[in-house]
Amino acid sequence: MTHKSPKDFFRPLAVGAPAPLREIPARPSRAIHFFDPSNEKMAAKIPAMVGTVDVLLGNLEDAVKADNKEAARHGLVKIAQETDFGPTQLWTRINSLDSPWVLDDLTTLVPAIGDKLDVIMVPKVQGAEDIHYVDRLLAQLEAKAGLTRPILIHAILETARGVANVEEICGASPRMQGLSLGPADLAADRKMKTTRVGGGHPGYLVRQDPPRDDSGASVIDAPRSVFQQDLWHYTIAKMVDACATHGIYPYYGPFGDIADVVACEDQFRNAFLLGCVGTWSLHPKQIAIANRVFSPSVEDVAHARRVVAAMGDGTGAVMLDGKMEDDASLKQCLVMVELAEKLASIDPELKAAYDAIEVGA
Ligand code: GLV
Ligand code: MG
Repeated sequence: MTHKSPKDFFRPLAVGAPAPLREIPARPSRAIHFFDPSNEKMAAKIPAMVGTVDVLLGNLEDAVKADNKEAARHGLVKIAQETDFGPTQLWTRINSLDSPWVLDDLTTLVPAIGDKLDVIMVPKVQGAEDIHYVDRLLAQLEAKAGLTRPILIHAILETARGVANVEEICGASPRMQGLSLGPADLAADRKMKTTRVGGGHPGYLVRQDPPRDDSGASVIDAPRSVFQQDLWHYTIAKMVDACATHGIYPYYGPFGDIADVVACEDQFRNAFLLGCVGTWSLHPKQIAIANRVFSPSVEDVAHARRVVAAMGDGTGAVMLDGKMEDDASLKQCLVMVELAEKLASIDPELKAAYDAIEVGA
């Protein structure tokens, strides 16, 4: 097979469609707040949420009843047309590519609100072919609608084949903005034996070795500590590597136990530490958790700035508080400092907290 020339990836896939982006902008997207546009009570609250969350996502897929699919699609068009989103991004999650609804989702949304939609989340992506399908269709619809800015694609990693193909999915189109973990569908598809939506599981653990008695024999039934492990570690790490390789952004996904704000925060923080830039929010109280967790702490920013100041031209090594810092740890600190600057530019409370850090503190 003769592959497409690298140059051609940056030509629009339809005559008159906007040129693909060469870099995916690193827009703050700590929380992607899901709402059901067919739920009038929920939809009425959306305009007031502008500016309180980085991303508002009108969900058309799972969690929207089959009978409400059209109402959700039209509800989203109405909200998007009537709302000024200011600094808040508007995303949608369309129905899966094997559903009877997805074609109408795309052919309705792009002409009606394509100028307001930043990102389209595509569920249950299996391989590059799914991205190619959406890529070409979006280009045709954008050209027809006269859009001047390409709509980006975000894939949910929620099938075993999708995980196996994660790198080709990330590199399938210059539209690729990022990936989210879909722990519920992924668990089902892999036949994992958890019925939880994201998070840990008490059965997935490592147990401390048994103590020994005076004769040196193991006391198997003695009390022993157990440490719960993270069922999602492997997938998140794989997703982070694939996204970093392709210059796009990884996200955690849904945490279904809305009441357990503590475990939710832990799961989000694990994802943040591993490299994710944000997560989904299924309830307003998860927005606050995500905004806190996916923003570097004041302590981390203070330390990072100190290292940056101490490292001068960025080469060589220095000792700070008994710890070695060098060119590589400087780069780690720059990740923190640059993220803090980006978030401070849209979040006045964070800006005040970061500004209050004393130089040399
Ligand atoms: C999200 O869509 C999931 O399946 O977890
Ligand atoms: Mg799913």
